[in-house]
Amino acid sequence: MKRIGMLTSGGDCQALNAAMRGVVKTLVHAEEEVEIYGFLDGYKGLIYGDYRMLSGKDFSGILTKGGTILGTSRTPFKTIKEPDENGLDKVEAMKHNYYKLNLDCLVILGGNGTHKTANLLREEGLNVVTLPKTIDNDLYGTDMTFGFQSAVDIATNAIDCIHTTAASHSRVFIVEVMGHKVGWLTLNAGMASGADIILIPEIPYDLDEIIAAIERRKKNSHFTIIAVAEGAISKEDAKLSKKEYAKKLKDSPYPSVSYELAAQIAEKTGQEVRVTVPGHTQRGGSPCPYDRVFASRLGSEAANLILKGEYGFMVGYKDREIVKVPLEEVAGKLKSVSPDARIVQEAKMMGICFGDGYLAKEEAPKAAKEKEKSSKDGKEKSSKDKGKKG
Ligand code: F6P
Repeated sequence: MKRIGMLTSGGDCQALNAAMRGVVKTLVHAEEEVEIYGFLDGYKGLIYGDYRMLSGKDFSGILTKGGTILGTSRTPFKTIKEPDENGLDKVEAMKHNYYKLNLDCLVILGGNGTHKTANLLREEGLNVVTLPKTIDNDLYGTDMTFGFQSAVDIATNAIDCIHTTAASHSRVFIVEVMGHKVGWLTLNAGMASGADIILIPEIPYDLDEIIAAIERRKKNSHFTIIAVAEGAISKEDAKLSKKEYAKKLKDSPYPSVSYELAAQIAEKTGQEVRVTVPGHTQRGGSPCPYDRVFASRLGSEAANLILKGEYGFMVGYKDREIVKVPLEEVAGKLKSVSPDARIVQEAKMMGICFGDGYLAKEEAPKAAKEKEKSSKDGKEKSSKDKGKKG
């Protein structure tokens, strides 16, 4: 008999239900008697003892359903150790409810903040297994999070739709893509939809480079599509301290970086510029088939860990394998796009502008050769290193 508490925390995303279904179906199929306590609205439910008893039936028919049947909320890690407005110690309250219900473990689905709290609960002695969700794909320890591919589909579709209208009007179109502090979603949706310029937080942009790219395009066509990550930042702003940048954003007359960029481009090029923000549509709706399969697999592997009594892990995905990653290795770390990543170089070789310098046609083959050489050198070095260890 297993008594399992389950919760979804942080921003929702597609395939949260599919992942929970994967956990429960696997446990039930193993003929293990299971009691499931579904905590409502994230850690809040665990703190205040707000839960629903669930059975296998509750997880039927939810594979394709977006959102989360448990509800979710953000419970910031930075205030988790502070008492609530009534003086309640939140960490102690979570432990109290865990022990009161005599739980064997908690299954926690969430992103970065959620994993910090999950790791804290592990340190406090609770049995925890986690699953990596977020459309941002910024969770350390896993190559992929569920929700990400579904969001890539939606953002891609948004940019695809913009393409025809941008071409008809010869306009510059900026599509602002979610992703918080990282550019995975923008990079992938931008490439999938043939954006001409892709701006991500990891590669601060130079306005003059963007203007030059728009002018270059005018030789062949009069429209330009720019995929801008919500966290994109200019080279000048990247030099500011965190505090100075926060103040700049607060005082800015623009609702986001895209609108500031639009005003600057319109002024410098004289072209009409429009901004589209798909926003939370990127987190909504049914999970794409990839995410349904991926989340089900992760859920099933989480159940396997529970059946074996192995706790303190996130079930992740590394080098095309499902793996268990110790929570202490995940918590508090961000996985961002490396400006040197192969995918970024490939995009540049195709002529996509990242706002950090133009890779001229004649330089592309040279860059490809250099890249090949450096990865060969890297491989040779690592096989020599392996040889040494062996
Ligand atoms: O982490 C997912 C995410 O959608 C980010 O891409 C975005 O910055 C943020 O959440 C939006 O948060 P909220 O739903 O609280 O507005």
